Amino acid sequence: MNKNIACIILAAGKGERMKSAIPKILHPICGRPLLGYVLDLVKDLKFNQVIAVLGHQHAEVRKHLAPGIKVLVQKRLLGTADAVRVALSGLKNFKGTVLVLYADIPLLKKETIQKLLKCHLENKSEATLLTATLREPEGYGRILRDRYASICGIVEDRDADDFQKNIKEINTGIMCFHKDRLVSGLKSINLNKRKKEYYLTDIIEIFYKKGYLLDALKAPDINEVLGINSRQDLAKANKIMQQRINQDLMREGVTIVDPDSTFVGFGVKVARDTTIYPFTVIERDVKIGKRCLVGPFAHLREGTILDDEVWVGNFLEICRAKISQKTIAKHFGYLGDTIIGKNVNIGAGTVTANFDGRKKNTTVIKDRAFIGCDTVLVAPVKIGRGAVTGAGAVVVKKKNIADGVTVVGIPARPLKGK
Ligand code: UD1
Ligand code: CA
Repeated sequence: MNKNIACIILAAGKGERMKSAIPKILHPICGRPLLGYVLDLVKDLKFNQVIAVLGHQHAEVRKHLAPGIKVLVQKRLLGTADAVRVALSGLKNFKGTVLVLYADIPLLKKETIQKLLKCHLENKSEATLLTATLREPEGYGRILRDRYASICGIVEDRDADDFQKNIKEINTGIMCFHKDRLVSGLKSINLNKRKKEYYLTDIIEIFYKKGYLLDALKAPDINEVLGINSRQDLAKANKIMQQRINQDLMREGVTIVDPDSTFVGFGVKVARDTTIYPFTVIERDVKIGKRCLVGPFAHLREGTILDDEVWVGNFLEICRAKISQKTIAKHFGYLGDTIIGKNVNIGAGTVTANFDGRKKNTTVIKDRAFIGCDTVLVAPVKIGRGAVTGAGAVVVKKKNIADGVTVVGIPARPLKGK
């Protein structure tokens, strides 16, 4: 499948409406840059060739691309038609179908693209558009149809008259083309005087006037085609992606008490029969085992791995930490750069002081240790198997506690008579 199909990803734009120093497509949803979602889609669909058109901050954006994607730079941001023209300069000898994707549309599903391509190829159309019907179409290009309901053009929101603004059918931006027709059609596109850009959307009227076969497929779910232009769009997409992630986890056997107040990043893995309580934030790629209890109000940051039956509770932040089976840390504290063994009890208010002002240091806590309430562990430090710290102890750096020893006080010393 998807032979003789070249895919162009348009990713050169500035994203001015974001009002940001960071390129728009590097803003994250659920912890992952927008661009990453399009790249996944393209990877799954296995095209012959993939070309990304970069422009604004291209050196930075390029770092996020997968190998195998050809990059072409659009030197002046002269619009979507110009960007496609740049991409085609890398497809000189290619014959077949060209699919255009926008990097600022992150929620699109591969099944929808498959359907679009199938419709395009089966009907032998010159161009096929993915459209959608929106209750609030503001901001999108509107699909114009003639008296026979055939597509005859696209008008951008900013250029539309009052009648056209009322049209609810929009251009999602996703289109596929017969390559040679695309190449020749682009030559006829004139500069839009108001925006000083060449609009790819103008090609539709050009095709219509030539009598070419134009087709459209309606997107099955309007959420899929949400284009991210502003921070508001970003928040909306984040919410939808969050719902997808939480649904997937629940489908796999995870209890999420309140999905609306549970924030789970992209790529997080949670095994069966774990329960996640409300107001918990789990960042990208964290791994959680079976039958764990997480939250409420827990923050699991990058590099956190919980084995089976670990309990991490209220107001606890965990970062770059591996916690082994049946260890319990139920009440507030910070565990960072930490390796914790099995059956360890971490008392309320325990803090690993991992940062010495210059670098992050590691704390190791061995099996069955008992860390008393309000203990501060100044890293680098090791707490032995079955060792105990008294409430309020400050274990200073490099003063490792041997197996089975109880320490108390500030700085922590072995308890006399023990
Ligand atoms: C575009 C469409 C609009 C559609 C909407 C769907 C045009 C003229 N308009 O509008 O009909 O409803 O998408 O989301 O095509 N880009 C470049 N080079 C450029 C300009 C843009 O690569 O010179 C890239 C951007 O990075 C972005 C994509 O093209 O990924 C779309 O550009 P954007 O400015 O966001 O277009 P919209 O105004 O959203
Ligand atoms: Ca856009």
